[in-house]
Amino acid sequence: MDASALHTPVMLERTLALLAPAIDAAVTAGRAPVVVDGTLGMGGHTEAMLAAHPTLVVAGIDRDPDAIRLARQRLAPFGERFVPVQTTYDRIDLALDAAGVVAADGILLDLGVSSLQLDAADRGFAYAKDAPLDMRMGQAGDVTAASIIAERSDRELSRLFRVYGDEKLADRYARAIVAARAEAPIETSAQLVDILQAATPRALSNQGHPAKRVFQALRIEVNQELAILERTMPAAIDALAVGGRLVVLAYQSLEDRIVKRALQAAAASTAPRDLPVELPEHAPHLRLLVRGAELADDAERARNPRSAPVRLRSAERIRPVNASASKTPASSPGEPS
Ligand SMILES: C[S@@+](CC[C@H](N)C(=O)[O-])C[C@H]1O[C@@H](n2cnc3c(N)ncnc32)[C@H](O)[C@@H]1O
Repeated sequence: MDASALHTPVMLERTLALLAPAIDAAVTAGRAPVVVDGTLGMGGHTEAMLAAHPTLVVAGIDRDPDAIRLARQRLAPFGERFVPVQTTYDRIDLALDAAGVVAADGILLDLGVSSLQLDAADRGFAYAKDAPLDMRMGQAGDVTAASIIAERSDRELSRLFRVYGDEKLADRYARAIVAARAEAPIETSAQLVDILQAATPRALSNQGHPAKRVFQALRIEVNQELAILERTMPAAIDALAVGGRLVVLAYQSLEDRIVKRALQAAAASTAPRDLPVELPEHAPHLRLLVRGAELADDAERARNPRSAPVRLRSAERIRPVNASASKTPASSPGEPS
């Protein structure tokens, strides 16, 4: 399988341009630069970085063993400059260990699912393809979309669809699922789509696919996407060398909000308002490199529809952590390699 044909990297040129000064500074300082790609996927961003910087080492994290396998094949020409790490991206510490460094010159997070996962016939991510309702990105854990649909109460399902999917018909869909599962187990994406379609009032049936937001909510819950991202942002900021740069690409508002808050907090002074001068320990840790969030341009959106919802945020580490500041938790529950 050709990994490069499976997933087109989003905002590639902009990502490379934002990370390049940090990589070049490490080279100028006489070090081999290290970037952690927290979302290796098909290795598209990583391949471009490795090709652009001849001494760069990339430690590439993915929780999905299929992604690791395909990226390993694709990136084999780079030899030991590519270091794959199968875990969740909150374990940036494991990637640093694997690359033999204590801090990263760059960290990239290109959140969400890859085209490989969406297109996989047997994983149940896509409402347009009939498959078992699995939706696990890694193979770890017992919670699948089918187990959530089978076991959660209608109140829990409704809350899930409303909070993670922003679904206005959340109550209605939850009731329809509970009624349907009393008749027969709901095990496939096609069964779920049929139930949602039947529960959608005709007047609303032209407002996008009724399953889109429910599938998004299930995927977020199965993979604990938001909880992991909450843990990851401080760990990523902490893992950057001074002068190191972080780039995050988010595709839905709940994720983007977590990224935005973490970056803004680390880019703000923590000095109490009534203090006449800012003490060094109150100074910001980050400098924001992008005002607000950047979007893909029209040409990219036209070329690659997956880029349409993207929000890019980026920041540079400008000072070391205080001795008292929190470190990456050694015990956070990443998936084992
Ligand atoms: C959008 S794709 C990355 C595509 C990649 N930048 C490329 O150019 O090929 C996101 C990848 O992140 C992985 N992923 C999502 N959540 C993760 C997590 N919490 N920990 C580790 N990997 C994760 C997915 O398995 C998927 O392969």
